Amino acid sequence: MYVIEKTEELSQGVKSFIVKAPRIAKKCQPGQFIILRTDEDGERIPLTIADFNRETGTITLIFQEVGCSTRQLGRLQAGQAILDVAGPLGNASHIDKFGTVVCIGGGIGVAPVYPIARAYREAGNKVVSIIGARNESLLILEKEMAAVSDILHVTTDDGSKGHKGMVIDPLKSMIAAGEKIDLVIAIGPVVMMRGVAEVTRPYGIKTIVSLNPIMVDGTGMCGGCRVSVGNTNKFACVDGPEFDAHQVDFTGLMARQRMYLEHEKEERKCGGECSCH
Ligand SMILES: Cc1cc2nc3c(=O)[nH]c(=O)nc-3n(C[C@H](O)[C@H](O)[C@H](O)COP(=O)(O)OP(=O)(O)OC[C@H]3O[C@@H](n4cnc5c(N)ncnc54)[C@H](O)[C@@H]3O)c2cc1C
Ligand code: FES
Repeated sequence: MYVIEKTEELSQGVKSFIVKAPRIAKKCQPGQFIILRTDEDGERIPLTIADFNRETGTITLIFQEVGCSTRQLGRLQAGQAILDVAGPLGNASHIDKFGTVVCIGGGIGVAPVYPIARAYREAGNKVVSIIGARNESLLILEKEMAAVSDILHVTTDDGSKGHKGMVIDPLKSMIAAGEKIDLVIAIGPVVMMRGVAEVTRPYGIKTIVSLNPIMVDGTGMCGGCRVSVGNTNKFACVDGPEFDAHQVDFTGLMARQRMYLEHEKEERKCGGECSCH
């Protein structure tokens, strides 16, 4: 059992849990994730390790309540426990000194970007971060991102905070101004990651995305997280989750993410209160 030490609501429907998991905290690296089950009937939920503390043996999970399982998770309180937490899973981000690294997080994608941006900064890079959300109330980790970035741009779709528009706008401005960019890392909705890939592609700027296909076992055995990268089948759980954005088949990824849409809608009708799934 994995005891939840602290819970916090970061924005509407987005929660942060600090969970006691000493063995995971000891080994995990930026870019890796865990798969948890709240109880014996629970679905497996992959979540990025948004932060970790090796001294206290804790990891931080930040999640958006989108469907039954994440809502069930969100009902847990500090002092209660999660049944299983498997990890760390996936490959760590390739952290090195590249020069200027642009770290882009959209919506809940800011959570996985945060430890990566921090690691790039610690490795001596100039980190320019761009974070965005639909509106100000949905923005997360602004202070934390500011602390690990040389420059932070904030965008909102409705203009309630920062630049009115999309996260790709400050990136386009940097390119138009002739700023030297050595690496871009983008994490967020698939449509956003595809947008970033299309902005950087003509300039040959190396761009990495962290993919979130549907996952089941997280071990490369079930095939659930198959993605086409450079016309080759890859499994995001063991070959990723990070991939070269210019090689990813985003259209195929979107289609696979919609595979269980009808089933998920049915489940949501019961509000996640039952154990029918
Ligand atoms: C490597 C990885 C890291 C992730 N990190 C985070 C994170 O840090 N914070 C966060 O909020 N979310 C993260 N996600 C997404 C999160 O796992 C899904 O939102 C969650 O599983 C949805 O479950 P649900 O039953 O509440 O919603 P559902 O009603 O089942 O689905 C809602 C949406 O989530 C997608 N989804 C459902 N099950 C999965 C699954 N097993 N894997 C991936 N997507 C799924 C569906 O296609 C749908 O678009 C991550 C996913 C992956 C693969
Ligand atoms: S989750 Fe099963 S192969 Fe990746």
